[in-house]
Amino acid sequence: MKRTLIAAATLCLMAAATLAHAADPVKIGFLVKQAEEPWFQDEWRYAEQAAKDKGFTLVKIGVPNGEKMMAAIDNLAAQKAQGFVICAPDVKLGKAVERSAKRNNLKVISVDDRLVDGGGKPIESIPHMGISGYAIGKQVGEGIIAEIKARKWSMADVGAIRVAYDQLPTAKERTMGAVDALKAAGFPAANIIDAPQAKTDTENAFNAANIALTKNAKFKHWVAFGLNDEAVLGAVRAAEGRGIKADSMVGVGIGGAKAAENELSKPAATGFFGSVMISAKEHGYQTSVNLYNWITGKGVPPAEVLTKGMLMTRANQADVRKAMGQ
Ligand code: GLA
Repeated sequence: MKRTLIAAATLCLMAAATLAHAADPVKIGFLVKQAEEPWFQDEWRYAEQAAKDKGFTLVKIGVPNGEKMMAAIDNLAAQKAQGFVICAPDVKLGKAVERSAKRNNLKVISVDDRLVDGGGKPIESIPHMGISGYAIGKQVGEGIIAEIKARKWSMADVGAIRVAYDQLPTAKERTMGAVDALKAAGFPAANIIDAPQAKTDTENAFNAANIALTKNAKFKHWVAFGLNDEAVLGAVRAAEGRGIKADSMVGVGIGGAKAAENELSKPAATGFFGSVMISAKEHGYQTSVNLYNWITGKGVPPAEVLTKGMLMTRANQADVRKAMGQ
């Protein structure tokens, strides 16, 4: 009898402990590789919105390199967070992220850049939300082709700069989608020039595009595409530096955040023709809510979500923003 009572009491205590744990305030980390980029600022802003709506604490940390990333994960655990959303500085750090999350008992969701293992395969145990890179790249290419046709340019006279960052799978998918759309429309493959950037920011894209322009002065007109708006802005600025302006340059980015908005709102058009707008809202808000639900036992996040985009130009900027809810 006594033993049964003790056992029952122990069970009660254990149940109470579990409940107390479940009722702990929820704290979530949101780690991004390039905190200075408007896209990531937007993601954070929408994640803050989710924190407000659901009543959890959000810890935003910029993780520009592997060392800072590992320190941030340990720091989250020390702060008694229960999980984090991450866009890592290098997708090949995937296994390190997985191990560190496990060791610290943290749930993890990746956003934007899918984490891979040593063999380059996506890590299936980490739920992911990213854009449908190839499809969005095709939209970029189709937008460029439509504009080439509207301007009645002969494709033989047009050089295409692919600002490339092929070590990041989504970057390769995006730019190859654009290349395929150009080729499908009859654009000469030989006119497509790779301009590899050392880092994914405007300055490095500028340097990469500059080399491509110098080496191929024969073209009359230019088009440019890349992983994001920053890549295309770099190419547009490099072209401007050589006197190639809006009337002979068509750059189409991916993103649609502040950088694109500024460019598309300038009184005079620039070579930055448009951007396929993608949803920072979904990426920031929904990943945070998915993680919150996972932590609080309300459901496991979908294994993979791929989001869509819409081509935004000077002509339809307001409508696209409205349609994307941003
Ligand atoms: C990558 C890019 C960002 C942004 C996101 C969108 O992380 O580096 O600029 O385009 O993808 O998912």
